[in-house]
Amino acid sequence: MKSDLKTSRTVSLTQNNQTVEFPVYKAAHGPDVFDIRSLYKETGAFTFDPGFTSTASCESKITFIDGDEGVLLYRGYPIDQLAENSDFIETAYLLLNGELPNPEKLKWFENSITMHTMVHEQLKNFYNGFRRDAHPMAIMVGVVGALSAFYHDSTDITDPKQRLVASHRMIAKMPTIAAMAYKYSIGQTFVFPRNDLDYTSNFMRMCFAVSSEEYECNPVLCDALDKIFILHMDHEQNASTSTVRLAGSSGANPFACIAAGIASLWGPAHGGANEAALNMLEEIGTVDRIPEFIARAKDKDDPFRLMGFGHRVYKNYDPRAKVMRTACHEVLDALGIRDEPLLQVAMELERIALEDEYFVAKKLYPNIDFYSGITLRALGFPTDMFTVLFALARTVGWIAQWSEMIVDPNQKIGRPRQIYTGAPQRDYTQMETRPSE
Ligand code: CMC
Repeated sequence: MKSDLKTSRTVSLTQNNQTVEFPVYKAAHGPDVFDIRSLYKETGAFTFDPGFTSTASCESKITFIDGDEGVLLYRGYPIDQLAENSDFIETAYLLLNGELPNPEKLKWFENSITMHTMVHEQLKNFYNGFRRDAHPMAIMVGVVGALSAFYHDSTDITDPKQRLVASHRMIAKMPTIAAMAYKYSIGQTFVFPRNDLDYTSNFMRMCFAVSSEEYECNPVLCDALDKIFILHMDHEQNASTSTVRLAGSSGANPFACIAAGIASLWGPAHGGANEAALNMLEEIGTVDRIPEFIARAKDKDDPFRLMGFGHRVYKNYDPRAKVMRTACHEVLDALGIRDEPLLQVAMELERIALEDEYFVAKKLYPNIDFYSGITLRALGFPTDMFTVLFALARTVGWIAQWSEMIVDPNQKIGRPRQIYTGAPQRDYTQMETRPSE
């Protein structure tokens, strides 16, 4: 990656009569960035930024979020335009390569992905080692991490060709691995991929076909899932993407890095929120119970939070949530589900929260996960598969970000520092001299 960091001005810091200048970079979009790489050398001090709320960890040309305006761009294109006009394969190409493909490039990419959809026969044995009731995310972490044991020929990160093969392998195999996790959990035989189908229809078929019957995916449902995948593909330096970059910064192979990303995504504050949001809507159950849950969310002494609400970056309506809400209605209409009680609860909860002083003051809006659970359940997926679907789509973003990092001239092993507030240095004490309780 060519670095486009250009100093637009400098900012100075004065302490103990000593002034240090730092370069300031102008972003294509978004806030200026102070380059403090020389801070420790020049001043002997660190910065303190738990959760990295004010820290740009890297230069990137992939995704941009304007949290105040509710804007999300992939390579400059607004997410709603991509969800409306593009599909999984084309958007994946865009994220990985920076430009929309022409027909030849799209065909090359699609062929390369479909060539890698099968998994090694031995990989199947991994599934048999898991309990049938294992969470499919636990299976994903294990099986994806194990891929590096199967594809040695694409683990040399210094070879661009091997990096490309590893990238395409992961994007291609993720639906197969995810569908196998689902089939295993319900005790059905695995369904092989079909390369004449598009990416998402093939995934739906691997999940819902059974060997005794023909399966045809309802195009409205396949389109909706394809859109959901596009919405989830990338989201700049979120927790799981930063995990992938951090793991990759040590030179770990890409399969291991993506497995680390899956582990990070699993948490309820991140990818696990779609599962948690649906569970919450079910717990609320009926519209008349909403005020009780709103009160709990506002109560400082109650750890309960409205799942699917709030975001570290969006202080406006999450643009993905808007597309998701429409997709939710399309899916329920296509399935003839007119009075889904959870949708009634969700819409009323959203209406009340958006008018409530607490949520307004803290700029807490619905995020992508608020409507995704209802939609995914209507598509036929059990709750514990929701985060797996997120991981499947986000694999594209993780790979795009990992690939960008590998060729970044400023890339270094990620190694944050700390402010130590523990015991000062002291001498070891013998057991008999230690105080009793
Ligand atoms: N319900 C009630 N209060 C909330 C919520 C919520 N969902 N989210 C934030 N707050 C309050 C929070 O208590 C805090 O109040 P105070 O300033 O009085 O202490 C204030 O808003 C700021 O919250 P924060 O935790 O400091 O903000 P954050 O940026 O660290 O957290 C978040 C962002 C997404 C983790 C948080 O909003 C949350 O826990 N939301 C629910 C989980 C969720 O829906 N996660 C999915 C995120 S979107 C998918 C993805 O990209 O992974």
